[in-house]
Amino acid sequence: MTKVISLFNQAGGVAKTTTAQNLGYHLSVRHHRVLLVDIDPQASLTTFMGLEPADLEKTVYDALVSSSDEPVPIHRDVHGMDLVPANILLANAEQELIFAELREFRLKEVLTPLLDNYDFILIDCPPSLGILSQISLVASTHVLVPIQCQFKALKGTDSLLKTVARVQRKLNRSLKIAGFFPTMYSANNSLDQRTLESIREQLSPIGKIFTPLPRATTVAEAAEYGKPLALCPNKNLAILRIFDEIAQAMEEI
Ligand SMILES: Nc1ncnc2c1ncn2[C@@H]1O[C@H](COP(=O)(O)OP(=O)(O)O)[C@@H](O)[C@H]1O
Ligand SMILES: [Mg+2]
Repeated sequence: MTKVISLFNQAGGVAKTTTAQNLGYHLSVRHHRVLLVDIDPQASLTTFMGLEPADLEKTVYDALVSSSDEPVPIHRDVHGMDLVPANILLANAEQELIFAELREFRLKEVLTPLLDNYDFILIDCPPSLGILSQISLVASTHVLVPIQCQFKALKGTDSLLKTVARVQRKLNRSLKIAGFFPTMYSANNSLDQRTLESIREQLSPIGKIFTPLPRATTVAEAAEYGKPLALCPNKNLAILRIFDEIAQAMEEI
């Protein structure tokens, strides 16, 4: 069965998009058919994959708001993965979907006909608890939560987990938490170490805690380069191993 995994956290800058891109790449290297779906109006994933959002004629927005059976705009074989891109027009979808019937199921409806074509669909959520994140959770089998190893990071997890619980209760009973991925970790910073400890203490009863992703300029450089880290000249093998470890874990969930 296809695993549909939302990268979800209402905080920005916690490496949701970075994880969607690199986890997707490592799953594709493991011979899985991967579709990435950008559901953030900021379109970072689209940019990280090397596309120019403003130049795109059709995006995920068209698939969400069109009432006809228009084909989903899929860009094939972008660094070994398929991609449904986004651009700023998606910001309108929040408004336009307010009155749509069964709006919570719009993304699920869009993705269901594609399930046979993919082993993994990764949805890169926007930094909010709004409708775009909700429709992503409704369309997903799993949610993977990147969480920054910083002082305030745990504060937001309450509302994040409440949102997941509400979706599980009302709209998607089979949604599971695939785990928590501590990110932006500086091993020599004692505050980060303590935060990582708290993350492990508080969240391990709820889901698996993965090996933390170190803060490293090569990761940010890869995004600017428009490619997954593994395809960049300056790769960091320790970080590639971490993404591969998560890819392996996603095979087993
Ligand atoms: N491990 C890391 N070390 C350094 N910079 C990172 C790391 N992971 C992500 N970044 C950078 O931090 C910024 C935010 O990451 P991003 O994946 O866009 O987060 P989100 O999608 O949660 O907003 C991006 O510029 C990205 O390239
Ligand atoms: Mg993002």
